[in-house]
Amino acid sequence: MIFDILTLFPEMFLSPLEGSIIGKARQEGKITINLINIRDYAEGKHRVTDDYPYGGGQGMIMKPEPIIRGVEALLADKPKAQVILMTPQGTPLRQEVVKRLAQHARLIIICGRYEGVDERVRAVVDEEISIGDYVLTGGELAALVLVDAVARMIPGVLGDEEASEDDSFSQGLLEYPHYTRPREFAGRRVPEVLISGDHQAIEQWRRAEALRRTWKRRPDLISRARLSDEDQRILEKLKGTSETD
Ligand code: 6GU
Repeated sequence: MIFDILTLFPEMFLSPLEGSIIGKARQEGKITINLINIRDYAEGKHRVTDDYPYGGGQGMIMKPEPIIRGVEALLADKPKAQVILMTPQGTPLRQEVVKRLAQHARLIIICGRYEGVDERVRAVVDEEISIGDYVLTGGELAALVLVDAVARMIPGVLGDEEASEDDSFSQGLLEYPHYTRPREFAGRRVPEVLISGDHQAIEQWRRAEALRRTWKRRPDLISRARLSDEDQRILEKLKGTSETD
């Protein structure tokens, strides 16, 4: 998987993508991350990348030519790429979007800055992505979130230890609670069932806790999740309880 990131601030990407799982995946050649400075495609002595908005108003707009030249230069190379513009006006990033993006061999990610990018940039964009309903000073942090979330779905990036099957959202639900040693800490014990060795009972407990947590914290996810008859039965029972979580 190749990520080509077009940005005015390539240095923002260095340390977050060096360490841990992403850094290791890069070293092992499972993913490639190329940082391209949009300024390299700007013309003139000053290599200007932004300008005042037509019609007036606050803030600066990123000029179309440097971004489009940068994207076109990248598109001249193989493999075929999906071009993504990071913007708060884009499709909200959800795990199913992450999984779909992970199917592409290559993503070209454009990071917008300032008040926005010239509308004509959209001519070279396949899709626009937002990471949530709040405003960041630029697309760089959002692009880092996207790269991290997509990279960990690439086969071999996560070891068996970190498998993504049980993740929150991967099944449309939040994750069940986790415990490690000690068995008792500050008077609070690990739930008996987890020590029982009864794998079926453990599975059932985890599913029920995932349902409980999701129902309490994110009822919006419950209505989207694909639930079995057994899940529905568990949920009905939960609704009758007053236990907090
Ligand atoms: Cl992709 N960009 C910016 N600037 N702000 C955001 C965002 C993106 N997603 C959420 N807020």
